[in-house]
Amino acid sequence: MTANSAGMTYADYLDLKDLLGAQRPRSDHHDEMLFIIIHQTKELWMKELLHELRFAVRLVEQGRFAEAYKAMARISRIQAVMTLSWDVLSTLTPVDYLKFRNVLGTASGFQSEQFREIEFRLGLKEPNFVNQYPEGSTERAALETALAEPSLRDAATGALERAGFDLKDRSVEALAAAWLQVYRDPERWFDLYELAEKLLDIDDSMVAWRQKHVLTVERIIGNKPGTGGSAGAPYLRKTLEKRLFPELWSLRTDL
Ligand code: HEM
Repeated sequence: MTANSAGMTYADYLDLKDLLGAQRPRSDHHDEMLFIIIHQTKELWMKELLHELRFAVRLVEQGRFAEAYKAMARISRIQAVMTLSWDVLSTLTPVDYLKFRNVLGTASGFQSEQFREIEFRLGLKEPNFVNQYPEGSTERAALETALAEPSLRDAATGALERAGFDLKDRSVEALAAAWLQVYRDPERWFDLYELAEKLLDIDDSMVAWRQKHVLTVERIIGNKPGTGGSAGAPYLRKTLEKRLFPELWSLRTDL
C-alpha cells in the first residue's frame, strides 16, 4: 500500500528536518562540521550496505545467484565510495583536529554497531564485540541477532554443499579444498566461481577501507592512543590481517 503522497515535498519525503538537524558540533571549530558529516554519511552508507547484505544472503541461500550478484556489486560500489571519502577527511590537519578532539570524550568509531554488524553478517563473527554494549540495548540485540543468523559466508558454504561438495566440517581448510576444486574447473562450477570472485571483491574492499582508515589516522593523530581506549594506529594495523573469506585467499597459493 502506498501512502497518500499528494502535496508531498522533497523535504517531507526525505525527512530533511530531522536529517539536517542532526549535525550539532560541540565546539566552535570550523572543521568539526566535516568530522560529523563524514561519520554520519558513513553510518548512512553502512545502513544501505546492511540492507543489501541481508538481501544478498537470502538470495544466495535460495540459489538465486544472478540477483545476488547484483546486490553484491552494489555493496562493492558502496564500499568504494566509503573508501574514497577518507580523502575528504584527510584534509583535516592534525592541528585542526586537536582543537576539538577533546569534545569527543571516549566516543570512537570502535563503538559503531553497524560496522560490527557488517563484519558479522559478512562472516567475521567475533562474539566478544557484543559485550561492549549494555544488556538490553538495541545495539546488543542487533549484534546478537546478526551472530545467530546466517552470514554471507555461511550462505556461500551452503551453496557449495548444495552443489554436492562434501565438506567434512566448515574449517578454513575444508572450505579451501572445496573452493580449490571450483577454481580448477571454473566452466563446470561457473556460478560458484563467480560467487567466489564477488565475495573476494567485498573482502578486498574491506581491507582497502581499513588501510585507508589507518593511513588517515596516522596522518591525523600519528601513533597517539585512540579516543576509544585502544593503542590507536598499532591496533588498527593489526585489523588489516582480518579476512572475511580466508579460504578464498589461501586457495590461490595452491592453485
Ligand atoms: C580523525 C579521524 C579519525 C581518527 C583519528 C580515528 C581513529 C580511530 C582509532 C584510533 C580507532 C581504534 C579504536 C580507538 O581506540 O578509538 C578507530 C576505530 C574505528 N574507527 Fe576511526 N578514526 C577516525 C575516523 C573514522 C571515521 C570517519 C569512521 C567511519 C565511520 C571511523 C570508523 C571506525 C571504526 C569502524 C573503527 C573500529 C575498527 C575495528 O575495530 O576494526 N573512524 N578509529
